[in-house]
Amino acid sequence: MQFSSRQQLTAALLTRVRQLRCARGAYLSAHMCYLAVVRFAFLLAASATACFCAAPMGWNSWNSFANIVNSQIVQQQAQALAANGMKEAGYEYVVIDEGWWLGERNAAGNIVVNPKQWPAIRPGQKDGDMANIAAYIHGLGLKAGIYTDAGRDGCSMYPDSGPKYNNTGSEGHYEQDFVQFSKWGFDYVKVDWCGGAEEKRSGAVQYAQVGRAIRRAEKITGRRLFLSICEWGSQNPWFWAPGVAGTESTIWRTGGDIIPPVVESLDDTEHAKRVITLKNVLDSFEAGLHPEAQHTGYYNDLDMMVMGMRGMTDAMDRIHMGLWVMASAPLMVGSDLTRLSSATLSLLKNREALAIHNDPYGLQPIKVADPSPGLQVWAKPTAVAGRRAVAILNRTDSSAQVKIDWGKLGLVGTPRSLRDVWNERDFTAADPAFSVPAHDILLLSVNGEDKKPVEYLANQSDIAGIQATSGPTFAGIEYANASGQVAVVRVKSTSGLSTALALPPTAGSDTGTAGFLLPGGTADLSFEALTVTVRKLAVYSW
Ligand code: GLA
Repeated sequence: MQFSSRQQLTAALLTRVRQLRCARGAYLSAHMCYLAVVRFAFLLAASATACFCAAPMGWNSWNSFANIVNSQIVQQQAQALAANGMKEAGYEYVVIDEGWWLGERNAAGNIVVNPKQWPAIRPGQKDGDMANIAAYIHGLGLKAGIYTDAGRDGCSMYPDSGPKYNNTGSEGHYEQDFVQFSKWGFDYVKVDWCGGAEEKRSGAVQYAQVGRAIRRAEKITGRRLFLSICEWGSQNPWFWAPGVAGTESTIWRTGGDIIPPVVESLDDTEHAKRVITLKNVLDSFEAGLHPEAQHTGYYNDLDMMVMGMRGMTDAMDRIHMGLWVMASAPLMVGSDLTRLSSATLSLLKNREALAIHNDPYGLQPIKVADPSPGLQVWAKPTAVAGRRAVAILNRTDSSAQVKIDWGKLGLVGTPRSLRDVWNERDFTAADPAFSVPAHDILLLSVNGEDKKPVEYLANQSDIAGIQATSGPTFAGIEYANASGQVAVVRVKSTSGLSTALALPPTAGSDTGTAGFLLPGGTADLSFEALTVTVRKLAVYSW
């Protein structure tokens, strides 16, 4: 019973996810979210479709171009993304970060941009109109992203030495700016926190206002606008970001910047001495671990990627890619896409690694073993029964042989198959000692049999006393939410850790599904509003 219902749940989920993929394998999830918003707005139906959105993938201008970003750079990067196979692999957003405007508004309070920085691209367009670049990006079959700050002033970090520009944030103009972004054609907005922090604002309050302004903009234009919260973890966004202001999918930054930007074309001593180290990558990964907060559609953001940038070796790229896909983190590549080596590019496009990233549960990994100092085994549950993604990270100076205790991954006996993800081939030995070079990472996809889950069944709107064992515990939930809005479920545990589970609305008799990790101790699920019915809850303890 338990096992077959898990299979049914998985089958339903995978069918839904397959429906969301277009022919070339890219997610249509944002489009589905948009459909849900439009249906909610215009049909007044409690029948919006649940949105199983994978964490976004794409490119962001900041790490490699900082404030020198302009139309030409963005066009070149978008072209590279469309031509080098990344688009086919699922990288879909082209995001323009800080530096696109310098804080000038007209008498009506509308943002004014430099016409030389953002000129007309096609005949009939006007210079100084951000709709030009959004249309260009769309013309390549990609989605466009833009950037602002929740505060008044924004970060305005002009490449290291330049003047600070004031008023580069959206405070006081939320409704106006988000409608403007949407009217220009943007599909994604990253909202930073420099001004908010300076003014000592509450992140939960400001981002809820931002979220409401985005909802309003979506209703006006009929275009979905994905919210990327960039508050660096300073006010524990993992507690309040899931479902903020009814957002059907969102991401929240968990730490500071992975590196200050490395702009290759800037000939100054500050930039010349910047080199990325493995520590930059490992620190961002560790700061990003809030596994109990992350669940289907709602993701910790470990920061934009630095794949192939100055200082990165192939092994460091592997560690970076391996940890980000294991974490189902946003894969927003901050590199100059016109300079990627074929090794870096093929890692970014590795299909089996991306399948780990796009797993419909979208969970973070759990460290299941430290066989010796500096050797770590990370495992993550997936939506496929009996499947685990496993990373063996070797942080030491010498190569190592590692055996895995499969029981610690919640599996019965030895796995049926073991897949070497980087090389896309099976291991032939049933239970090998895995060999991992110094400062490198091995990525495995493991298929076996789950230990039997505990099931909580049907028609409950509160479930108390879910017993987590001493090890990590994860759950798959099947639910109905006919309210037409995202419902937020509080998960309280005797460990003292309380998290929020956001469950998007379901249509008619449809079933929504989500995966989540439970905190240790005994957990209670309690629903803020009686709009959600649990159809099934399967709890797996490792
Ligand atoms: C902050 C953010 C970065 C980037 C810069 C732009 O530091 O964390 O990702 O957006 O601002 O100034």
